[in-house]
Amino acid sequence: DTAPSGMAPAYLATIHALRRAARWAPAALFSSGIVAGDKPVLVRDFVRSALYDPNHGYFSKRSGPVGVLDSAIRFHKLEGRTAYMKHLDKLYKMHDISWFTPVELFKPWYAYAIAASILRTANLSVPLKIYEIGGGSGTCAKCVLDYMMLNAPPKVYNNMKYISVEISSSLAEKQLETVGEVQSHLSKFTVEHRDATDIAGWGCKDPQPCWVLMLEVLDNLPHDLVYSPDQVSPWMEVWIEKVNGSSQVCEVYKPLQDPLVSRCSEIVGMNEENPSLREKLSFAAKGLVSKVFPKPRRAWLPTGCLKLLDTLHQTLPSMSLIASDFSYLPDVSIPGDRAPLVSSKKDGKTLDHPNYLDAQVCHFHFIHIAVTLQADNLFLLLE
Ligand SMILES: C[S@@+](CC[C@H](N)C(=O)[O-])C[C@H]1O[C@@H](n2cnc3c(N)ncnc32)[C@H](O)[C@@H]1O
Repeated sequence: DTAPSGMAPAYLATIHALRRAARWAPAALFSSGIVAGDKPVLVRDFVRSALYDPNHGYFSKRSGPVGVLDSAIRFHKLEGRTAYMKHLDKLYKMHDISWFTPVELFKPWYAYAIAASILRTANLSVPLKIYEIGGGSGTCAKCVLDYMMLNAPPKVYNNMKYISVEISSSLAEKQLETVGEVQSHLSKFTVEHRDATDIAGWGCKDPQPCWVLMLEVLDNLPHDLVYSPDQVSPWMEVWIEKVNGSSQVCEVYKPLQDPLVSRCSEIVGMNEENPSLREKLSFAAKGLVSKVFPKPRRAWLPTGCLKLLDTLHQTLPSMSLIASDFSYLPDVSIPGDRAPLVSSKKDGKTLDHPNYLDAQVCHFHFIHIAVTLQADNLFLLLE
């Protein structure tokens, strides 16, 4: 708990408060990604536990989940893509980290570009308010604040508010440390340790214009899974249940009943109504084939993403949203449409898992963000 010299007292008080809060976190529902009680849970709760459980979740670890570069890469010293890839390889060998995010690799330029676009388009007659969801190590927050300090009219920087909403208490602490490197940023910056998808945490609706940044967050949000035993039977929800008396878990299938799963499958267009004659004929043909050669179907649904966007739309109706994420995932071996990449790291090696139920302390990556957005302004950067 020793603080480096020169840190502001307000910052230290918040760090201590966060440490206390971390100890009061509710008991884990599952142990090591395994369902603890006898009741089945939806796949999204299983994924949430593997990623965010305060005790064993991937993002609750103090080091590892989000890599931080000690210093910015000097791009002008690198001659082209091959030199960049070599440099990247060296960096990964030096750090015990699964990956670096773009805001980290391209610091400070990536966050500067976001800040420049905000400055260019924001209505500066009202105080600037930026929310960042899932700020990781705080690099984006620090660089956006740096940019505003150096480039915005002093009134804009002095009156601005930067609110970080972070589910992991260890990363929330890290963000305060990173932003606290510049003393004057601390009066503009607050970090709220909570789940951004939970509408209760947002309080009343805020009708004022504001910005919401989410970098590499949508692809980490819990998903649900639906299953059908053949080509024509209706989709069923997948739940996870403990196998009698053992630490193993298995899937159980139930008719669609969860409102979020049902809404998400409608939005994704999985239960299209009013099929055309051609579709009806093809369905009848499939029915025959499915009796002889039943082929089970699986589809992953971005229910966590839908919940977060719903929440933001209701609580921050005048937001401008900037989100960035993957546009494809390599070598996915988990079956199903929109399936995730599930990986863990052991002894410096990244291991991809062919079965998501293997998840001990695993990292899930999803890419397909198939929900409708109703934000007034949306910038989606796909890498
Ligand atoms: C892959 S990291 C990205 C970190 C950072 N934005 C970057 O690009 O380096 C995902 C971040 O989102 C946070 N996060 C995930 N789900 C969240 C939720 N429901 N509410 C708030 N933060 C969340 C994680 O703890 C982590 O900080």
